Amino acid sequence: MRIITLSAPDDFDVWREAARGLIADSVPPDQVVWQVGDQPADLFGAVADEAIPGNAPRFTVSRNFLDLARSVVLANDPERFALLHTALDRLRRQPRLIEDQADPLVRRLDRLAKAVRRDTHKMRAFLRFRETEDADGPRYVAWFEPEHHIVRANAAFFVNRFTTMRWSILTPEVSLHWDGQTLNEGPGATKADAPEGDPTEAVWKTYYASIFNPARMKIGAMLKEMPRKYWKNMPETALVPQLIAGAQARETGMIDTARADMRAGRGRNAQAAWAALRDEAMGCTRCPLYAPATQTVFGKGPVDAALMFVGEQPGDQEDLAGHPFVGPAGQVFDRAVAEAGIDRARTYVTNAVKHFKFEPRGKRRIHSSPNAGEIQACRWWVAQERLLIQPQVTIALGATAARSLFGKVMAIGRERGKALTLPDGGTAFITVHPSYLLRLPDPEAKKVEYARFVEELKLAGQALR
Ligand code: URA
Repeated sequence: MRIITLSAPDDFDVWREAARGLIADSVPPDQVVWQVGDQPADLFGAVADEAIPGNAPRFTVSRNFLDLARSVVLANDPERFALLHTALDRLRRQPRLIEDQADPLVRRLDRLAKAVRRDTHKMRAFLRFRETEDADGPRYVAWFEPEHHIVRANAAFFVNRFTTMRWSILTPEVSLHWDGQTLNEGPGATKADAPEGDPTEAVWKTYYASIFNPARMKIGAMLKEMPRKYWKNMPETALVPQLIAGAQARETGMIDTARADMRAGRGRNAQAAWAALRDEAMGCTRCPLYAPATQTVFGKGPVDAALMFVGEQPGDQEDLAGHPFVGPAGQVFDRAVAEAGIDRARTYVTNAVKHFKFEPRGKRRIHSSPNAGEIQACRWWVAQERLLIQPQVTIALGATAARSLFGKVMAIGRERGKALTLPDGGTAFITVHPSYLLRLPDPEAKKVEYARFVEELKLAGQALR
Protein backbone atom coordinates (compact mmCIF):
# COMPACT_ATOMS: atom_id res chain seq x y z
CA MET A 1 0.00 0.00 0.00
CA ARG A 2 1.35 3.45 -0.90
CA ILE A 3 0.46 6.54 1.05
CA ILE A 4 0.54 9.76 -0.92
CA THR A 5 0.44 12.96 1.07
CA LEU A 6 -0.87 16.08 -0.58
CA SER A 7 -0.03 19.41 0.97
CA ALA A 8 -3.58 20.78 0.64
CA PRO A 9 -7.02 19.49 -0.35
CA ASP A 10 -6.77 21.27 -3.73
CA ASP A 11 -3.22 20.18 -4.50
CA PHE A 12 -3.58 19.33 -8.17
CA ASP A 13 0.14 19.47 -9.01
CA VAL A 14 1.17 16.94 -6.41
CA TRP A 15 -1.75 14.68 -7.31
CA ARG A 16 -0.66 14.79 -10.96
CA GLU A 17 3.01 14.04 -10.25
CA ALA A 18 2.13 11.26 -7.84
CA ALA A 19 -0.46 9.71 -10.14
CA ARG A 20 2.02 9.70 -13.00
CA GLY A 21 4.57 7.92 -10.85
CA LEU A 22 2.02 5.40 -9.63
CA ILE A 23 1.02 4.60 -13.19
CA ALA A 24 4.69 4.27 -14.18
CA ASP A 25 5.19 1.86 -11.28
CA SER A 26 1.98 0.02 -12.20
CA VAL A 27 0.54 0.59 -8.72
CA PRO A 28 -3.18 -0.17 -8.93
CA PRO A 29 -5.53 2.49 -7.54
CA ASP A 30 -6.79 0.19 -4.79
CA GLN A 31 -3.24 -0.04 -3.46
CA VAL A 32 -3.00 3.70 -2.77
CA VAL A 33 -4.09 5.80 0.19
CA TRP A 34 -4.35 9.54 -0.47
CA GLN A 35 -4.09 11.85 2.48
CA VAL A 36 -4.10 15.60 2.82
CA GLY A 37 -1.56 17.41 5.02
CA ASP A 38 -1.18 15.88 8.40
CA GLN A 39 -4.76 14.68 8.53
CA PRO A 40 -4.37 10.92 8.52
CA ALA A 41 -6.48 9.17 5.97
CA ASP A 42 -8.31 6.01 6.84
CA LEU A 43 -5.24 3.77 6.91
CA PHE A 44 -7.18 0.59 7.29
CA GLY A 45 -4.54 -2.05 6.65
CA ALA A 46 -2.11 0.34 5.00
CA VAL A 47 1.64 0.12 5.35
CA ALA A 48 2.89 3.64 5.89
CA ASP A 49 5.17 3.58 2.92
CA GLU A 50 5.33 7.36 2.41
CA ALA A 51 6.18 7.90 -1.23
CA ILE A 52 5.69 10.40 -3.97
CA PRO A 53 7.48 8.86 -6.89
CA GLY A 54 9.85 11.42 -8.35
CA ASN A 55 10.87 12.05 -11.96
CA ALA A 56 8.00 10.02 -13.23
CA PRO A 57 8.10 9.40 -16.97
CA ARG A 58 5.59 11.51 -18.88
CA PHE A 59 2.58 10.02 -20.50
CA THR A 60 0.24 12.24 -22.37
CA VAL A 61 -3.41 12.72 -21.62
CA SER A 62 -5.86 15.02 -23.33
CA ARG A 63 -6.33 18.58 -22.23
CA ASN A 64 -9.98 17.76 -21.56
CA PHE A 65 -9.00 15.23 -18.98
CA LEU A 66 -6.58 17.61 -17.30
CA ASP A 67 -9.25 20.31 -17.17
CA LEU A 68 -11.69 17.83 -15.70
CA ALA A 69 -9.11 16.64 -13.16
CA ARG A 70 -8.29 20.23 -12.15
CA SER A 71 -11.93 20.76 -11.25
CA VAL A 72 -12.49 17.37 -9.64
CA VAL A 73 -9.49 17.82 -7.33
CA LEU A 74 -11.36 20.77 -5.80
CA ALA A 75 -14.42 18.69 -4.96
CA ASN A 76 -15.27 17.90 -1.39
CA ASP A 77 -15.24 14.13 -1.93
CA PRO A 78 -12.58 12.09 -0.12
CA GLU A 79 -12.45 9.63 -2.99
CA ARG A 80 -11.65 12.20 -5.66
CA PHE A 81 -7.90 11.49 -5.89
CA ALA A 82 -8.46 7.76 -6.15
CA LEU A 83 -11.21 8.22 -8.74
CA LEU A 84 -8.91 10.37 -10.85
CA HIS A 85 -6.09 7.87 -10.46
CA THR A 86 -8.44 5.13 -11.67
CA ALA A 87 -9.47 7.27 -14.64
CA LEU A 88 -5.85 8.00 -15.49
CA ASP A 89 -5.02 4.32 -15.28
CA ARG A 90 -7.90 3.44 -17.61
CA LEU A 91 -7.02 6.24 -20.02
CA ARG A 92 -3.86 4.39 -21.00
CA ARG A 93 -6.02 1.63 -22.42
CA GLN A 94 -9.06 3.72 -23.33
CA PRO A 95 -7.79 7.08 -24.58
CA ARG A 96 -11.36 8.25 -25.31
CA LEU A 97 -12.69 7.21 -21.94
CA ILE A 98 -13.85 10.63 -20.81
CA GLU A 99 -16.04 11.06 -23.87
CA ASP A 100 -18.03 8.02 -22.78
CA GLN A 101 -20.96 9.51 -20.91
CA ALA A 102 -22.36 6.06 -20.23
CA ASP A 103 -19.34 5.11 -18.13
CA PRO A 104 -20.19 5.35 -14.40
CA LEU A 105 -16.73 6.66 -13.49
CA VAL A 106 -16.93 9.39 -16.13
CA ARG A 107 -20.41 10.31 -14.97
CA ARG A 108 -19.25 10.56 -11.38
CA LEU A 109 -16.27 12.75 -12.32
CA ASP A 110 -18.53 14.98 -14.41
CA ARG A 111 -20.93 15.37 -11.49
CA LEU A 112 -18.07 16.39 -9.21
CA ALA A 113 -16.74 18.90 -11.74
CA LYS A 114 -20.21 20.33 -12.15
CA ALA A 115 -20.64 20.73 -8.39
CA VAL A 116 -17.32 22.57 -8.28
CA ARG A 117 -18.38 24.86 -11.11
CA ARG A 118 -21.63 25.65 -9.34
CA ASP A 119 -19.81 26.43 -6.11
CA THR A 120 -17.38 28.66 -8.00
CA HIS A 121 -20.25 30.56 -9.52
CA LYS A 122 -21.80 31.02 -6.08
CA MET A 123 -18.57 32.32 -4.63
CA ARG A 124 -18.18 34.82 -7.47
CA ALA A 125 -21.80 35.88 -7.39
CA PHE A 126 -22.66 35.92 -3.69
CA LEU A 127 -19.52 36.93 -1.85
CA ARG A 128 -19.92 40.36 -0.23
CA PHE A 129 -17.28 42.69 1.22
CA ARG A 130 -17.73 44.78 4.34
CA GLU A 131 -15.51 47.80 4.86
CA THR A 132 -13.11 47.83 7.82
CA GLU A 133 -10.18 50.03 8.73
CA ASP A 134 -6.67 48.98 9.65
CA ALA A 135 -3.41 50.89 10.12
CA ASP A 136 -3.01 51.25 6.33
CA GLY A 137 -6.54 52.45 5.62
CA PRO A 138 -9.69 50.73 4.40
CA ARG A 139 -9.70 46.98 4.05
CA TYR A 140 -12.65 45.06 2.65
CA VAL A 141 -13.43 41.80 4.33
CA ALA A 142 -15.78 39.08 3.15
CA TRP A 143 -16.91 35.87 4.77
CA PHE A 144 -17.80 32.93 2.57
CA GLU A 145 -18.52 29.26 3.18
CA PRO A 146 -17.81 27.26 0.07
CA GLU A 147 -18.94 23.68 -0.23
CA HIS A 148 -15.81 22.60 -2.08
CA HIS A 149 -12.12 23.46 -1.94
CA ILE A 150 -12.45 26.28 -4.44
CA VAL A 151 -11.01 29.27 -2.62
CA ARG A 152 -7.40 29.23 -3.85
CA ALA A 153 -8.51 28.39 -7.37
CA ASN A 154 -10.61 31.56 -7.38
CA ALA A 155 -7.99 33.87 -5.91
CA ALA A 156 -6.92 35.19 -9.32
CA PHE A 157 -10.52 36.06 -10.18
CA PHE A 158 -10.88 38.27 -7.09
CA VAL A 159 -7.43 39.81 -7.55
CA ASN A 160 -8.39 40.80 -11.09
CA ARG A 161 -11.83 41.97 -10.14
CA PHE A 162 -10.81 44.01 -7.11
CA THR A 163 -7.20 44.84 -7.91
CA THR A 164 -7.13 48.31 -6.47
CA MET A 165 -8.75 47.42 -3.15
CA ARG A 166 -7.12 45.87 -0.11
CA TRP A 167 -9.26 42.90 0.80
CA SER A 168 -9.48 39.66 2.75
CA ILE A 169 -11.68 36.70 2.01
CA LEU A 170 -12.24 34.57 5.08
CA THR A 171 -13.43 31.00 4.77
CA PRO A 172 -13.39 28.08 7.21
CA GLU A 173 -10.51 26.39 5.40
CA VAL A 174 -8.24 29.20 4.31
CA SER A 175 -8.07 33.01 4.18
CA LEU A 176 -6.84 35.12 1.30
CA HIS A 177 -5.38 38.57 1.87
CA TRP A 178 -4.67 41.01 -0.97
CA ASP A 179 -2.85 44.26 -0.27
CA GLY A 180 -2.99 45.67 -3.79
CA GLN A 181 0.33 44.00 -4.71
CA THR A 182 0.67 40.64 -3.06
CA LEU A 183 -1.68 37.82 -2.29
CA ASN A 184 -1.09 36.07 1.03
CA GLU A 185 -2.71 33.02 2.41
CA GLY A 186 -3.69 32.56 6.05
CA PRO A 187 -5.39 29.92 8.14
CA GLY A 188 -9.12 29.31 8.08
CA ALA A 189 -11.38 31.65 10.01
CA THR A 190 -14.79 31.70 11.60
CA LYS A 191 -17.72 33.93 10.82
CA ALA A 192 -17.04 35.80 14.07
CA ASP A 193 -13.72 37.00 12.55
CA ALA A 194 -15.57 38.82 9.80
CA PRO A 195 -17.14 42.23 10.41
CA GLU A 196 -20.88 42.61 10.76
CA GLY A 197 -22.95 45.24 9.02
CA ASP A 198 -24.00 46.13 5.57
CA PRO A 199 -21.87 45.05 2.66
CA THR A 200 -20.01 47.89 1.04
CA GLU A 201 -22.30 49.51 -1.48
CA ALA A 202 -19.90 50.68 -4.15
CA VAL A 203 -18.17 47.35 -4.26
CA TRP A 204 -21.10 45.04 -4.46
CA LYS A 205 -23.25 47.24 -6.68
CA THR A 206 -21.07 46.89 -9.72
CA TYR A 207 -20.43 43.35 -9.09
CA TYR A 208 -23.93 42.31 -8.29
CA ALA A 209 -25.72 44.02 -11.11
CA SER A 210 -23.30 42.64 -13.64
CA ILE A 211 -23.95 39.10 -12.50
CA PHE A 212 -27.52 39.14 -11.36
CA ASN A 213 -30.10 39.82 -14.01
CA PRO A 214 -33.58 38.75 -13.03
CA ALA A 215 -34.96 39.79 -16.41
CA ARG A 216 -32.91 37.06 -18.03
CA MET A 217 -33.11 34.45 -15.33
CA LYS A 218 -35.82 31.95 -14.78
CA ILE A 219 -37.14 32.56 -11.30
CA GLY A 220 -37.01 28.93 -10.21
CA ALA A 221 -33.41 28.56 -11.35
CA MET A 222 -32.56 31.82 -9.68
CA LEU A 223 -33.94 30.75 -6.33
CA LYS A 224 -32.31 27.37 -6.58
CA GLU A 225 -29.10 29.15 -7.34
CA MET A 226 -29.27 31.47 -4.38
CA PRO A 227 -29.44 29.13 -1.41
CA ARG A 228 -30.75 30.59 1.83
CA LYS A 229 -27.41 30.30 3.51
CA TYR A 230 -26.09 33.13 1.31
CA TRP A 231 -29.06 35.40 1.77
CA LYS A 232 -27.95 36.86 5.07
CA ASN A 233 -24.76 38.17 3.47
CA MET A 234 -26.51 39.92 0.65
CA PRO A 235 -28.26 43.28 0.78
CA GLU A 236 -30.10 42.55 -2.43
CA THR A 237 -31.93 39.66 -0.82
CA ALA A 238 -34.54 42.29 -0.18
CA LEU A 239 -35.43 41.35 -3.73
CA VAL A 240 -36.10 37.75 -2.92
CA PRO A 241 -39.68 38.19 -1.70
CA GLN A 242 -40.31 40.02 -4.95
CA LEU A 243 -38.85 37.13 -6.88
CA ILE A 244 -40.93 34.66 -4.96
CA ALA A 245 -43.95 36.79 -5.70
CA GLY A 246 -42.86 36.54 -9.31
CA ALA A 247 -42.87 32.77 -9.10
CA GLN A 248 -46.35 32.76 -7.63
CA ALA A 249 -47.51 35.25 -10.20
CA ARG A 250 -46.47 32.84 -12.90
CA GLU A 251 -48.78 30.27 -11.44
CA THR A 252 -51.67 32.69 -11.49
CA GLY A 253 -50.94 33.94 -14.97
CA MET A 254 -49.49 37.27 -13.87
CA ILE A 255 -46.01 36.62 -15.08
CA ASP A 256 -45.82 39.62 -17.35
CA THR A 257 -46.46 42.03 -14.51
CA ALA A 258 -43.91 40.27 -12.35
CA ARG A 259 -41.36 40.44 -15.11
CA ALA A 260 -41.94 44.12 -15.56
CA ASP A 261 -41.45 44.62 -11.82
CA MET A 262 -38.24 42.70 -11.93
CA ARG A 263 -37.00 44.65 -14.89
CA ALA A 264 -37.68 47.83 -12.97
CA GLY A 265 -35.74 46.38 -10.04
CA ARG A 266 -32.85 45.57 -12.30
CA GLY A 267 -32.96 49.08 -13.71
CA ARG A 268 -32.45 50.62 -10.28
CA ASN A 269 -29.61 48.28 -9.51
CA ALA A 270 -28.03 48.82 -12.88
CA GLN A 271 -28.00 52.59 -12.40
CA ALA A 272 -26.19 52.30 -9.08
CA ALA A 273 -23.88 49.68 -10.50
CA TRP A 274 -23.08 51.84 -13.51
CA ALA A 275 -22.14 54.76 -11.24
CA ALA A 276 -19.87 52.49 -9.22
CA LEU A 277 -18.30 51.14 -12.39
CA ARG A 278 -17.67 54.63 -13.76
CA ASP A 279 -16.09 55.67 -10.44
CA GLU A 280 -13.86 52.64 -10.58
CA ALA A 281 -12.89 53.46 -14.17
CA MET A 282 -11.82 56.93 -13.08
CA GLY A 283 -8.85 55.33 -11.36
CA CYS A 284 -8.02 52.96 -14.21
CA THR A 285 -4.32 52.29 -14.77
CA ARG A 286 -4.73 49.18 -16.90
CA CYS A 287 -2.56 50.64 -19.63
CA PRO A 288 -0.13 53.58 -19.76
CA LEU A 289 -2.61 55.89 -21.53
CA TYR A 290 -4.05 57.11 -18.23
CA ALA A 291 -0.86 59.00 -17.35
CA PRO A 292 -0.83 61.86 -19.90
CA ALA A 293 -4.62 62.04 -20.31
CA THR A 294 -6.71 64.51 -18.32
CA GLN A 295 -9.25 61.94 -17.19
CA THR A 296 -11.06 58.72 -18.00
CA VAL A 297 -13.88 59.45 -20.41
CA PHE A 298 -16.48 56.88 -19.52
CA GLY A 299 -19.64 56.05 -21.46
CA LYS A 300 -22.73 58.20 -21.18
CA GLY A 301 -26.43 57.54 -21.48
CA PRO A 302 -29.31 55.75 -19.78
CA VAL A 303 -28.53 52.32 -18.38
CA ASP A 304 -31.61 50.87 -20.02
CA ALA A 305 -30.62 52.11 -23.47
CA ALA A 306 -31.58 49.71 -26.23
CA LEU A 307 -28.87 51.06 -28.53
CA MET A 308 -25.21 51.36 -27.64
CA PHE A 309 -22.61 53.17 -29.71
CA VAL A 310 -18.93 52.39 -29.33
CA GLY A 311 -16.42 54.86 -30.74
CA GLU A 312 -12.65 54.70 -30.81
CA GLN A 313 -11.30 56.87 -27.99
CA PRO A 314 -11.95 60.37 -26.65
CA GLY A 315 -10.44 63.20 -28.63
CA ASP A 316 -8.91 66.41 -27.36
CA GLN A 317 -12.23 68.02 -26.45
CA GLU A 318 -13.70 64.89 -24.94
CA ASP A 319 -10.60 64.50 -22.79
CA LEU A 320 -11.16 67.98 -21.36
CA ALA A 321 -14.94 67.74 -21.06
CA GLY A 322 -15.00 64.18 -19.69
CA HIS A 323 -17.81 63.12 -22.09
CA PRO A 324 -17.72 61.10 -25.30
CA PHE A 325 -18.40 62.60 -28.73
CA VAL A 326 -18.64 66.28 -27.88
CA GLY A 327 -15.96 67.56 -30.31
CA PRO A 328 -15.99 67.79 -34.13
CA ALA A 329 -16.56 64.06 -34.66
CA GLY A 330 -19.35 64.30 -32.10
CA GLN A 331 -21.08 66.97 -34.17
CA VAL A 332 -21.08 64.79 -37.28
CA PHE A 333 -22.26 61.92 -35.14
CA ASP A 334 -25.11 63.95 -33.63
CA ARG A 335 -26.32 65.13 -37.02
CA ALA A 336 -26.22 61.66 -38.56
CA VAL A 337 -27.90 60.01 -35.61
CA ALA A 338 -30.72 62.55 -35.72
CA GLU A 339 -31.14 62.07 -39.48
CA ALA A 340 -31.37 58.34 -38.91
CA GLY A 341 -34.32 58.98 -36.61
CA ILE A 342 -32.47 58.02 -33.46
CA ASP A 343 -32.66 60.06 -30.26
CA ARG A 344 -29.08 60.24 -28.98
CA ALA A 345 -30.31 60.99 -25.47
CA ARG A 346 -31.88 57.54 -25.38
CA THR A 347 -28.73 55.76 -26.47
CA TYR A 348 -25.60 54.83 -24.56
CA VAL A 349 -22.44 56.23 -26.12
CA THR A 350 -19.01 55.02 -25.14
CA ASN A 351 -15.54 54.38 -26.54
CA ALA A 352 -13.41 51.29 -26.99
CA VAL A 353 -10.54 53.09 -25.23
CA LYS A 354 -11.34 55.42 -22.35
CA HIS A 355 -8.27 57.67 -22.36
CA PHE A 356 -7.15 60.14 -25.02
CA LYS A 357 -3.99 58.98 -26.77
CA PHE A 358 -2.05 61.80 -28.34
CA GLU A 359 1.33 63.07 -29.45
CA PRO A 360 2.20 66.50 -28.07
CA ARG A 361 3.14 68.89 -30.85
CA GLY A 362 3.88 72.34 -29.48
CA LYS A 363 0.74 73.37 -27.67
CA ARG A 364 -1.37 70.93 -29.63
CA ARG A 365 -2.20 67.34 -28.83
CA ILE A 366 -2.44 65.26 -31.99
CA HIS A 367 -4.68 62.19 -31.96
CA SER A 368 -2.81 58.91 -32.11
CA SER A 369 -4.61 55.60 -32.72
CA PRO A 370 -4.69 53.13 -29.85
CA ASN A 371 -2.71 49.95 -30.38
CA ALA A 372 -3.86 46.36 -29.91
CA GLY A 373 -2.61 46.19 -26.31
CA GLU A 374 -4.44 49.38 -25.35
CA ILE A 375 -7.66 48.18 -26.97
CA GLN A 376 -7.30 44.87 -25.18
CA ALA A 377 -6.63 46.51 -21.80
CA CYS A 378 -9.81 48.58 -22.16
CA ARG A 379 -12.04 45.76 -23.43
CA TRP A 380 -12.74 44.89 -19.84
CA TRP A 381 -14.55 48.19 -19.31
CA VAL A 382 -16.55 47.84 -22.50
CA ALA A 383 -17.56 44.33 -21.47
CA GLN A 384 -18.68 45.62 -18.05
CA GLU A 385 -20.67 48.40 -19.68
CA ARG A 386 -22.34 45.89 -21.98
CA LEU A 387 -23.18 43.61 -19.08
CA LEU A 388 -24.91 46.44 -17.30
CA ILE A 389 -26.63 48.10 -20.21
CA GLN A 390 -27.45 44.93 -22.12
CA PRO A 391 -28.27 46.82 -25.29
CA GLN A 392 -30.40 45.14 -27.91
CA VAL A 393 -28.10 46.46 -30.60
CA THR A 394 -24.53 47.72 -30.43
CA ILE A 395 -23.01 49.85 -33.18
CA ALA A 396 -19.26 49.84 -33.66
CA LEU A 397 -18.06 53.11 -35.11
CA GLY A 398 -14.90 52.22 -36.99
CA ALA A 399 -12.17 49.60 -36.79
CA THR A 400 -11.04 50.11 -33.19
CA ALA A 401 -14.57 49.74 -31.85
CA ALA A 402 -15.16 46.66 -34.01
CA ARG A 403 -11.91 45.11 -32.82
CA SER A 404 -12.81 45.78 -29.21
CA LEU A 405 -16.29 44.33 -29.51
CA PHE A 406 -15.41 41.28 -31.57
CA GLY A 407 -12.02 40.66 -30.01
CA LYS A 408 -10.40 40.47 -33.43
CA VAL A 409 -9.69 42.59 -36.47
CA MET A 410 -12.85 43.07 -38.55
CA ALA A 411 -12.92 44.02 -42.23
CA ILE A 412 -15.12 47.11 -42.13
CA GLY A 413 -15.67 47.21 -45.91
CA ARG A 414 -16.98 43.67 -45.89
CA GLU A 415 -18.90 43.63 -42.62
CA ARG A 416 -20.44 47.07 -42.49
CA GLY A 417 -24.19 47.54 -42.54
CA LYS A 418 -25.24 44.02 -41.62
CA ALA A 419 -26.46 42.43 -38.42
CA LEU A 420 -23.62 40.49 -36.82
CA THR A 421 -23.44 38.39 -33.67
CA LEU A 422 -20.97 39.39 -30.98
CA PRO A 423 -18.98 36.82 -29.01
CA ASP A 424 -21.31 37.50 -26.03
CA GLY A 425 -24.33 36.72 -28.22
CA GLY A 426 -25.44 40.35 -28.68
CA THR A 427 -26.38 41.90 -32.02
CA ALA A 428 -23.99 44.40 -33.52
CA PHE A 429 -23.59 46.53 -36.61
CA ILE A 430 -20.33 47.94 -37.87
CA THR A 431 -20.10 51.24 -39.66
CA VAL A 432 -17.45 53.87 -40.22
CA HIS A 433 -16.18 56.34 -37.66
CA PRO A 434 -17.48 59.93 -38.02
CA SER A 435 -13.86 61.19 -38.10
CA TYR A 436 -13.37 59.25 -41.31
CA LEU A 437 -16.10 61.38 -42.89
CA LEU A 438 -14.44 64.52 -41.60
CA ARG A 439 -11.15 63.52 -43.17
CA LEU A 440 -12.48 62.78 -46.67
CA PRO A 441 -11.04 65.52 -48.89
CA ASP A 442 -13.47 65.21 -51.80
CA PRO A 443 -16.82 66.93 -51.04
CA GLU A 444 -18.73 64.57 -53.34
CA ALA A 445 -17.24 61.48 -51.70
CA LYS A 446 -17.98 63.05 -48.33
CA LYS A 447 -21.64 63.43 -49.27
CA VAL A 448 -21.96 59.89 -50.54
CA GLU A 449 -20.19 58.39 -47.55
CA TYR A 450 -22.18 60.47 -45.11
CA ALA A 451 -25.45 59.28 -46.66
CA ARG A 452 -24.26 55.69 -46.42
CA PHE A 453 -23.36 56.25 -42.77
CA VAL A 454 -26.88 57.55 -42.04
CA GLU A 455 -28.40 54.57 -43.89
CA GLU A 456 -26.37 52.16 -41.80
CA LEU A 457 -27.43 53.87 -38.58
CA LYS A 458 -31.04 53.57 -39.76
CA LEU A 459 -30.57 49.85 -40.37
CA ALA A 460 -29.22 49.39 -36.85
CA GLY A 461 -32.11 51.41 -35.42
CA GLN A 462 -34.61 49.28 -37.33
CA ALA A 463 -33.10 46.13 -35.84
CA LEU A 464 -34.41 47.12 -32.42
CA ARG A 465 -37.32 45.04 -31.30
N1 URA B 1 -13.90 59.98 -31.41
C1 URA B 1 -14.30 58.90 -30.71
O1 URA B 1 -14.17 57.76 -31.13
N2 URA B 1 -14.85 59.08 -29.54
C2 URA B 1 -15.05 60.26 -29.03
O2 URA B 1 -15.57 60.33 -27.92
C3 URA B 1 -14.64 61.40 -29.78
C4 URA B 1 -14.07 61.22 -30.96
